[in-house]
Amino acid sequence: MCQRKYSNSDILAIECEKGAIEAGHEVDYVSLKGKILSIVCLTFIRSGCCVLKDDIAEIMDKVKEAEVIVYASQIYYYEMCGQMKTLLDRLNPLYSSDYAFRDICMIATAAEDEESAFEKAELKGIVTGAGIANSNDALNYNDVMKKAYDLGRSL
Ligand SMILES: Cc1cc2nc3c(=O)[nH]c(=O)nc-3n(C[C@H](O)[C@H](O)[C@H](O)COP(=O)(O)O)c2cc1C
Repeated sequence: MCQRKYSNSDILAIECEKGAIEAGHEVDYVSLKGKILSIVCLTFIRSGCCVLKDDIAEIMDKVKEAEVIVYASQIYYYEMCGQMKTLLDRLNPLYSSDYAFRDICMIATAAEDEESAFEKAELKGIVTGAGIANSNDALNYNDVMKKAYDLGRSL
């Protein structure tokens, strides 16, 4: 979890920790507050090591060993906070590793209590381009290209 002192997400994460401990679990609470996380680079993804010395190695060891992960983040601009996104990016080398966790939970706090901030607008269409990675690849995905085109046509 991340950010300001006495934050809402902190409070909920600590409450969750309390419940987990009372249920008999061993909990390792990791706060991103004060942690230095560099942005991800390809060298890091390929080798799992970073030339920049920051706090990721220590966090990654804990995440790898954990059986359950509970992430907590405040919502910033309809998304997790940037520090949490950077953490998830930096954990990328774990994907192909023998990590222990199977369950992941998310705690998120947001100021809005409405279903949507844009009452007069509705979500009309989604186009997902899964599997598209390299530049220009999208051009080869005719089905996705057509969905994007059809969405445009339907507007
Ligand atoms: C920069 C910034 C962006 C925010 N964006 C959103 C948002 O998009 N939607 C929302 O509901 N609340 C938003 N909030 C409000 C926070 O999510 C809310 O206050 C939350 O409880 C803060 O958690 P914290 O105390 O752990 O920092 C934003 C707050 C800040 C400072």
